[in-house]
Amino acid sequence: MKEIKFVKKTTDFSKNLHIDLVKKMLVFDEVDSTNIIAKELAQAGAEEGTVVIARKQHHGRGRFDRIWQSPDGGVYLSIILQPKKSTEKISLLPLVTALSVSRTIGLYSLDATIKWPNDVQVNGKKIAGILLESEIRGHEVIYVVVGIGINLNIDRKDLSPDIQPQSTSMLYELGSPVDYHEFLRTFFMQFDWIYSLFVDNQFQRIIDEWKIKTDTLGKTICVQTSTETLQGIAFDIDQSGFLLLRKENGEIKKILSGDCLYLNDLDPT
Ligand code: BTN
Repeated sequence: MKEIKFVKKTTDFSKNLHIDLVKKMLVFDEVDSTNIIAKELAQAGAEEGTVVIARKQHHGRGRFDRIWQSPDGGVYLSIILQPKKSTEKISLLPLVTALSVSRTIGLYSLDATIKWPNDVQVNGKKIAGILLESEIRGHEVIYVVVGIGINLNIDRKDLSPDIQPQSTSMLYELGSPVDYHEFLRTFFMQFDWIYSLFVDNQFQRIIDEWKIKTDTLGKTICVQTSTETLQGIAFDIDQSGFLLLRKENGEIKKILSGDCLYLNDLDPT
């Protein structure tokens, strides 16, 4: 495997983490982006279950080329996966990840809902974001990097004013900090379990639980995809995790990804 150098590696707390999926954990104080490092590692031959974690990111990457603000106190991690599945089923991985995150947060007595496609929210505000990046050649999945950012012990004031109103953190919701290592251990246990369902082709179980955890279905939404803006009722997801949207004229649209706005929640003034 090609050697890749990074700055300031902190102690590896993964030694007592007996979780099947996690094979190797690279823990850093500061990086540009854990997803970038994980992609480089995957391209250099790193195995499935290699995890990159950082306490802070300088250029955390969000969906649609946005910046993911990554101050101290948050969870920033990327997991390399090499699932032996058809490319069609790979689109269920965002659901697997969002479920793992929402279940983990739920174990801290918070009601974490999933906003399609894979934002996790508490009290209507975003607490976690997920960015999947993959390399696919023909029909073969070479790797998938699952990037997860969770606002754990973050003071909302450490986020920029433009995202503060729609963001929250575990610290804010619970009123006290959460043990970082314990939280990670809980998360990896959840991810390991739900990813094992995916590996075992138990797709319907994943979809069924996603439907319980989402608050998007049944809502009138506006979706900005990379090519168009669509409006209608989000009434279901299909077997590959695509959102099914019924437009006002009755036309059904299948959408893989996009930015979703709940129209019912908009202030009428
Ligand atoms: C989103 O826009 O909602 C997705 C945000 C994903 C952020 C995480 S933080 C860890 C990983 N590394 C990155 O650079 N991005 C993802």
